[in-house]
Amino acid sequence: MSIKRLADEAGDTLTLLDVDGFLFAPDLTEDVIKGLKKFPFRDDDVMVCSYPKSGCHWVWEILRMLQEGTIDVPLQEKEDLMMEWKTPEFMDKFPSPRVLNNHVLLKHLNPELFEKKIKIVMVIRNPKDVAVSFYHHHKKLVEYDYKGKFENYVRHYLEGKVDGCCVFDYTREWEREIADHPEHPILVLSYEDMKEDLEREVKKIGKFLGKSYEEAFYKKIADKCTFKKMRDRKGAVYSEWGDNIFYRKGEVGDWKNWFTVAHSEMCDRICDEKMAGSKISFRYTLNNTETNNNNAGS
Ligand code: A3P
Repeated sequence: MSIKRLADEAGDTLTLLDVDGFLFAPDLTEDVIKGLKKFPFRDDDVMVCSYPKSGCHWVWEILRMLQEGTIDVPLQEKEDLMMEWKTPEFMDKFPSPRVLNNHVLLKHLNPELFEKKIKIVMVIRNPKDVAVSFYHHHKKLVEYDYKGKFENYVRHYLEGKVDGCCVFDYTREWEREIADHPEHPILVLSYEDMKEDLEREVKKIGKFLGKSYEEAFYKKIADKCTFKKMRDRKGAVYSEWGDNIFYRKGEVGDWKNWFTVAHSEMCDRICDEKMAGSKISFRYTLNNTETNNNNAGS
């Protein structure tokens, strides 16, 4: 284990914790991370897995409502059930059914999850919007001690010198694991599909969980989990972390305000190389921008 200060293209450094080659926020602890291999799953746990900044908070909140059968879930930080952050003892305080979450790979987790058939909802997001969101995350959270400019950050991010690993390596590794465990219940969602039609995606998750709620309940969840409503309800929970860390803009295509043509081409090139043969394709824009705006603003 070591704390690393990884320099971007201009020499500004981002501080991270390296545990066996996988990177984490510097305030995480090695013991908790290594303990993931022995994490005591409950039979009725479900788990959200995602690359950072891909919509984990969003899906976590929806899953809680679906699991509890109500939209009036208590105000709670997702981080209370973030497996690489909190100890199993801490998480044991929470009643079933728990909605766990993490940004690690399946190989980091207790393989008992396969025997227990722990349901996994994986969420992916296009890597350009992730870059912009991650950049703000790194700049705003003091523990990273990062002061760089976006133009010098893009390559750094694409090379995977950020929490986790390279976004493409993360996605490919998960895709391989899913293919290797065809019998395991894993649902893959995309941030963009959720922005396009949240009610449709909420129903999809409900079906995956084996729920058979009335149509009206799915609609209520979708209404309560628009970007604006979630930010209004939950933003304050995170105020001590900084300004709008987890509820920043909530759009598809914000990358166009940040990427140069050269950045975009570099990202596409690396994506083509790393994702060759993959069945996953990223959505960089929504055809119906009205839908995007409606979701963001309603
Ligand atoms: P932006 O920084 O682009 O706004 P994670 O939860 O995995 O950290 O992802 C954070 C991203 O999800 C942020 O993206 C955040 O604004 C966005 N997000 C959170 N809740 C959302 C919601 N209800 N609808 C759309 N986007 C949401």
